[in-house]
Amino acid sequence: MKIIELKEVNKYFGVGNNKICALKNINLSVDKGDFVAIMGQSGSGKSTLMNILGCLDSFSSGSYKIDGIEVANMDKNAQAELRCRTFGFIFQKYNLLTSLNALENIALPCIYYGMNDKTRVEKAKKLLSDFELENRSDNKPNELSGGQQQRVSIARALINGAEIILADEPTGALDSKSGEMVMNIIKNLHKKGHTVILVTHDKNIASYANRIIEIKDGEIISDTMKNSVLHKAQKERLIDKKSRFDYIRYQIYESFKMSLKAVKTHKMRSLLTMLGIIIGIASVVSVVALGNGSKEKIMENLNSIGANTIIIFPGKGFGDKEASKIKTLKISDAKIFSKLSYVDSISPNIAAQGLIIYKNKSAISSLDGVSAEFLEVNNKKLQIGRKFNVSEVETAAAVAIIDQNTQKEIFGNNSALGEIVIFNRQPLKIIGVMAQEDNFGPPDVNLNIYTPYTTAMYKVLGNHEISSITIKVSDDINSYLAESDLTKILIALHGKKDFFTMNSDSVRKMVESIANTMTILISSIAVIALVVGGIGVMNIMLVSVTERTKEIGIRMAIGAKRKNILQQFLTEAVLLCLMGGIVGILLTMLFSFLFNNFIDDFKMILSLDAILIALFFSMTIGILFGYMPARNASNLNPIEALARD
Ligand SMILES: Nc1ncnc2c1ncn2[C@@H]1O[C@H](COP(=O)(O)OP(=O)(O)O)[C@@H](O)[C@H]1O
Ligand SMILES: [Mg+2]
Repeated sequence: MKIIELKEVNKYFGVGNNKICALKNINLSVDKGDFVAIMGQSGSGKSTLMNILGCLDSFSSGSYKIDGIEVANMDKNAQAELRCRTFGFIFQKYNLLTSLNALENIALPCIYYGMNDKTRVEKAKKLLSDFELENRSDNKPNELSGGQQQRVSIARALINGAEIILADEPTGALDSKSGEMVMNIIKNLHKKGHTVILVTHDKNIASYANRIIEIKDGEIISDTMKNSVLHKAQKERLIDKKSRFDYIRYQIYESFKMSLKAVKTHKMRSLLTMLGIIIGIASVVSVVALGNGSKEKIMENLNSIGANTIIIFPGKGFGDKEASKIKTLKISDAKIFSKLSYVDSISPNIAAQGLIIYKNKSAISSLDGVSAEFLEVNNKKLQIGRKFNVSEVETAAAVAIIDQNTQKEIFGNNSALGEIVIFNRQPLKIIGVMAQEDNFGPPDVNLNIYTPYTTAMYKVLGNHEISSITIKVSDDINSYLAESDLTKILIALHGKKDFFTMNSDSVRKMVESIANTMTILISSIAVIALVVGGIGVMNIMLVSVTERTKEIGIRMAIGAKRKNILQQFLTEAVLLCLMGGIVGILLTMLFSFLFNNFIDDFKMILSLDAILIALFFSMTIGILFGYMPARNASNLNPIEALARD
């Protein structure tokens, strides 16, 4: 039964004048379970033939069938699968991964096979003890002798079954004693049923084989067989039990582990690479947190104006010099408005300054004439006492409500309730004290005293003009519709538009939109930082791929598919970025902790959303900027990569 069949295989290297023919019309078939030695001088084409047999290299023309299947028709993945499951390579220079210990090196092909952790370690341990390496399992290749390294590499070749063992001068770098030991192992493998193809230029080594093929200048010149009676071909093949999901899971887990290892080996470099991402993520998250905090603070203050509130002022707008001459805004307007169904509460405002006197104390204070509903309209609360009632407003009762500043300035810690103060020669009885307000920015240092607007008009000021009307619209009414309706009514009453309105909702919207614009603006600067960070990651990944070309070659030789390599490097890039992102977030947390403890104006608000988005962002950067280097790695030609030092 033929396991390998080559027909008229040619292999050329180079082009034009440099073109050389490394293999000429090779016709060769190998029986299952045979032990073949390929002999020839250096440069005769032995390795070239071996690489073609092991699907590490392509051939220029001819036909190569494994188990009756044409290799030329297979895609790269199918060839990788063959290297993973059917072939076991033993190289002259061992080709172990220097960063892995003996056990991990042996178990490596299982990762590409899709075996789980436990099975892998079990199998690798069994092989270690088969080859008398039990106590070497944790040693890295540079801590092993040549003979030990070669035994590790044989164990690695065998771990996935290796129906066909391809050994390219396996004893070439060994002393005669170790060489003999290795040859005995190979002989035993043949006895167990493995098909063995071995390259050597040494007659003694070749004598272990059942069949010796001599090759010269790329041509077979002799083919001698000792025995036609062969050992029974190995029947046992590994059985696939794993599910596709498990396979992907092991792959991702393994790439993650390998990436972590790679990051650990280059700590400083990884940290510097991450720096860009750290700065980018930290600034994005901080800016969003600062934006959220300040917006919240501003909103809180706007809430003290109250939602759904419309204020009507005389004039064309704030700062209108003619406004004081306009006397059309009247109490009668407010009375008409108060009858509208959508008006929840309303208060005209009459403002004045004056001297407030109590016993031997006096102070400059502002007086506000308001309606009985002014607390509701302005979203204010009383600390103690009561508000004005309707009859007090109708009769211009001499009552007043004072704010906290007045309470402190005039009464100190004593109760003001029931006391009489004099404001502009008018005695006023205090019936309430307003609650302290939590306001943004510098505190209000004015003293404020409120009386019914009638009292202000008829008793205190003797003037009948009002400075504004504040209207609170019912919650279920759109304040913009109310605003336009009020405007229409007032134009009809006044005959022209000699007033302007301010809607608390539009102020709120404006603040919100300014805050959002600022966030977007600063975030886009931070995004630039992230892109720069990403380019740093890409740069270092390209370097990493170049540095590890040999490693990539080895991985491919023992069965890694392109996508495995792609996944590994992509995982590494994503890991770098994700770690950078996490460090960035932690830094922001520290920063906001300090900020919130030392700065009183407003708080930094770190939202879970922002953190998740930042993590997602850093992962995306890893994928975007890691893809190109990872693809470069996966596109390497196995044999060229292996040849690299
Ligand atoms: N990648 C390559 N590019 C160009 N020439 C090559 C390459 N690999 C091998 N050759 C040439 O092909 C011939 C056979 O090489 P090789 O198979 O390595 O010989 P052996 O293993 O028998 O010493 C040599 O002349 C060598 O120079
Ligand atoms: Mg060679």
